[in-house]
Amino acid sequence: MTAMSRPVLLDCDPGHDDAIAIMLAAADPGIDLRLVTTVAGNVTLENTTRNALRVLDMVDRPDIPVAAGCDRPRVRALSTAASMHGDSGLAGPELAEPSRSALDAPAIEVIEQFLIDADEPLTLVATGALTNMADVVERLPHLRDRIDQLVIMGGAVDLGNWTPAAEFNIWVDPHAADVVFRAARVPGTGRPDDGIALTMIGLEVTHRAWLADEHADALRGTGRAGRWVAELLDHFVGFHQDRFGWEGGPIHDAVTIAHLIDPTLVTTLPMNVRIETESPLCIGRTVADRWQVTGLPANAAVGLDIDRDRFVTLLMDRLSSLA
Ligand code: BDR
Ligand code: CA
Repeated sequence: MTAMSRPVLLDCDPGHDDAIAIMLAAADPGIDLRLVTTVAGNVTLENTTRNALRVLDMVDRPDIPVAAGCDRPRVRALSTAASMHGDSGLAGPELAEPSRSALDAPAIEVIEQFLIDADEPLTLVATGALTNMADVVERLPHLRDRIDQLVIMGGAVDLGNWTPAAEFNIWVDPHAADVVFRAARVPGTGRPDDGIALTMIGLEVTHRAWLADEHADALRGTGRAGRWVAELLDHFVGFHQDRFGWEGGPIHDAVTIAHLIDPTLVTTLPMNVRIETESPLCIGRTVADRWQVTGLPANAAVGLDIDRDRFVTLLMDRLSSLA
């Protein structure tokens, strides 16, 4: 952390790539990670919360509190991605018991207090389903001017990954995503009263942000945390090689933090984005008006591309620096 570092609250569902996002945030001097909140998604809330605590143990950051949020989506039943992340959510390395517990208060109350107490507007990052963020929108409208921006990993302009139409995080809780996108504005435009400045980092970007076996091997010798990430990657990269025939595994969630560290990495375009909440075939789709055919105003900056080489260099540098 430096005098100029950006204060960040990270809402997540670890998850391999969430874990790496937390580690990147903890390792980068430009990010002041103040709070981690958890949501049900990749696995149950109990497990995502335990995993967030484990990751913070691994980077030796007992000072960063963890608060558990919503244990299920707003309307739909919880569907997890244990097939990808394992039943624990962090298949691969041996998992120690967390050294501490989450805070007693629910995430929304803790987020509220952090927003009230902060000396400057806070940046929110969400790398899981948007259930907690929908609560922020609906329950904390009076604190909008305390939120600098919201960066999410979720959605896709083109193909989905969990269904042909939908990306996993949005598909898990489309009703929450709908609340968030309806309350959003393009960063750099309007004022807090007009909505929360929203950047959507979707699959067009994150499918290019992959690490492969060689990266796991390079990290394996760098220290305790590096070895742990290598073992996470052994599982996660292997899953994507077997399931999709890809060379590597996309580290989706880490791109949100990388975007904050270096805003020149991801190319974005303002678009109108609406969320499909009803169609059985397309539920969870981020209907992004790439070609401005609807005439509806843009409500988010949507990522379209990433400088992969520089992303990988940044990520490997920060992960290697962890003890
Ligand atoms: C997203 O789904 C989850 O499995 C990952 O953690 C990531 O946030 C990618 O679609
Ligand atoms: Ca995630």
